[in-house]
Amino acid sequence: MIQYNRLEKTFTLTTEKTMYQMQIGPAGHLLHLYYGPVTDGCFDYLQLPRDCGFSPNPYELQEGRGWSLDTQAQEYSTAGTGDFRLASLETESAQGIPGADLRYVSHEIRPGKYQLEGMPSAFAGEETVQTLSVVLADAATGIQAELLYGVFPHRNVITRAVRIHNRGTASVRLNRAASACLDLPFGDWQLVHFHGRHTMERQPERISLMNGVQTVSSSRGASSHQHNPFVILCQPDAADRFGTCYGMMLVYSGNHRTDVEVDQAGATRAVMGISDSNFSWTLEPGEAFETPEVLLTFTQEGLDDLSHLYHRFIQHNVCRSRYALERRPVLLNSWEAAYMDFDAEKLLRIARDAKSLGVELFVIDDGWFGNRDDDFRGLGDWFVNEKKFPKGLKSLLDSIHGLGMKTGLWLEPEMISEDSELYRRHPDWALTVPGRKPTIGRSQLVLDLTREDVLEWLYETFAGLIRENPIDYIKWDMNRHLTDLYSHSLPAGRQGEVTHRYVLGLYALLERLTQEFPDVLFEGCSGGGGRFDAGMLAYHPQIWCSDNTDPIARLSIQEGTSYGYPIPAVGSHVSASPNHQTGRRTPLGTRGVAAMAGTFGYELDPAQLTEEEREEVRQQIRQYHTWQDLIREGDYYRIQSANAVRPYTAWQFVSQDKEEVLLSVVLAGVTSNPRPLHLQLKGLDPKARYQIASADFYGCKAELPHAPDRVFTGGELMHGGYTLPILLGDYPSAQIYWKKVTG
Ligand code: GLA
Repeated sequence: MIQYNRLEKTFTLTTEKTMYQMQIGPAGHLLHLYYGPVTDGCFDYLQLPRDCGFSPNPYELQEGRGWSLDTQAQEYSTAGTGDFRLASLETESAQGIPGADLRYVSHEIRPGKYQLEGMPSAFAGEETVQTLSVVLADAATGIQAELLYGVFPHRNVITRAVRIHNRGTASVRLNRAASACLDLPFGDWQLVHFHGRHTMERQPERISLMNGVQTVSSSRGASSHQHNPFVILCQPDAADRFGTCYGMMLVYSGNHRTDVEVDQAGATRAVMGISDSNFSWTLEPGEAFETPEVLLTFTQEGLDDLSHLYHRFIQHNVCRSRYALERRPVLLNSWEAAYMDFDAEKLLRIARDAKSLGVELFVIDDGWFGNRDDDFRGLGDWFVNEKKFPKGLKSLLDSIHGLGMKTGLWLEPEMISEDSELYRRHPDWALTVPGRKPTIGRSQLVLDLTREDVLEWLYETFAGLIRENPIDYIKWDMNRHLTDLYSHSLPAGRQGEVTHRYVLGLYALLERLTQEFPDVLFEGCSGGGGRFDAGMLAYHPQIWCSDNTDPIARLSIQEGTSYGYPIPAVGSHVSASPNHQTGRRTPLGTRGVAAMAGTFGYELDPAQLTEEEREEVRQQIRQYHTWQDLIREGDYYRIQSANAVRPYTAWQFVSQDKEEVLLSVVLAGVTSNPRPLHLQLKGLDPKARYQIASADFYGCKAELPHAPDRVFTGGELMHGGYTLPILLGDYPSAQIYWKKVTG
């Protein structure tokens, strides 16, 4: 609900559990008053004027020297107008006028959710959503900032985005245009962010804020393996189970930046949006620029609750694919099974083998097209390699369908190899700087997605491929970051727009293809999880979480991912042992346990399995089928962190009706005479009675330490906890499944 109080000049945005308040200040600035639990009140008394020295005053408010933008909490801070802290907007007009002094002009409260043009943004779905638009303007340049707020009462999410209009007579250059500024005037806050590298994505790190600015950003043209566009600000005592936390997640897949500043008064400001590195955007008179959207959440119930808010929101209000809320097939991907060393016959043999194990979808990964026998060539030549597929692609896909399986294909649409027919025809379609040898990544160049002709060709090529072939699934990969940020089709003054235009081009292409082929299941990928963000999740209901398929390394990768992103979006597979990335040997069962915290599938050649292992795989798949709805729709809880001192990781799913509970535990290390493994479950019905329906132990011999039909109350399992038997061996694991006892 959105209310405007004329007397107090306040806007109050209310969801079921949260309230967000702002006020038009005495000189027309839009001030931030409050974001927290729902309560009565007007929080303007918190913004006490005080002369703190060297904090200048707006001309109209110079008397008493107490009122300064440098000390007031604001909704959208600007540079050069009296606030020396982080700016959300930095502009320069053609007349040389720096900055924008934004004052209130008008506002509108509308039913429904605003939509952005050319970028994904949250949609209302079954929710009753309202939009608040507040227009602020700068008299000197004619710059208008329309601040957009979407209020999702039931989901406890508030979205934000900004439309910058040039209503003046001269052009204006945007050097920075953030999506949201969140001022927390009081309190000590810690920052949780997710950093990493290829094959080690989204490692959670929690730090106390320093006085000054700390930054989480990517200038790689993709949201990146290195820094995810999602941060949490929480109180020092907040934990998974309790505590005050704010979440900020950017719905964007390109360069991003989040700065968090602790200012001279101890106030905290977080500004999130497109990175200003290599960014500038020219707005001619009459033109507008839209920022990507930020999803804001607040909870007093800890990091688990914050994760649940994002999980549900992304599944119900961000991802447009029908598969977001549907079961997904168990797949086998050919990459770690054969890499590029295959022909149609070999693939069909693997598919047949996979089918006999219960696999439902067979994915042909990299190596099926052009002269792609290694990763030095072929990208851009999206026609079948006739040496490998003498009867053509369709014939193989038909044969796979004939086995009763679905078919999948790997694509890397955004890239081009120098050694390709496409490059020989269109060298200017790659991002390269005139007169300079381009930087090469994985022996490839990046296609210039800012160009209409490139986008049209990509659309025709892939729409044609899908129309002409029976394809049920596409893995959309992106295997290098952007350099040589120069488009041969943009004028000199517009080259600062390349990285954002690239992302807009990508979204336009994805929009067309996913709209036209709603039944194709798309899985995102960028060297594993290098573009695991809410922007890509709008189109891809699942994203390959990491090229690291080692189940032990995966524990912290998947745990980090779980803070913001839904479990059914996490592409996760069982691979061979020893693992191809780490060389580690792990039990097949433990690999299955780790992969069941995600979409579940395989990434191995079944011919390498023993008969006993094949039977185990069949059992795993049967098991996954019985739990897939619980994993997909249930609430996920972190029970024991992979990053904690204890050498085990535990997580748990609870169905929405609290009838089913699945506890998974993986030991990364064992000791002799170990301490008991004691875990407190979460989210159960305290009064309900639960009985173990199955208990599986992998890589070890273990038995339940109590009678198998022992009944536990939810309260016992949550408050007293549950003690597992001693698990010894190499990377042992357990899955304990409880069901509510009725009657
Ligand atoms: C990337 C992906 C892998 C695989 C290879 C193929 O690294 O993450 O899963 O598809 O490309 O080249």
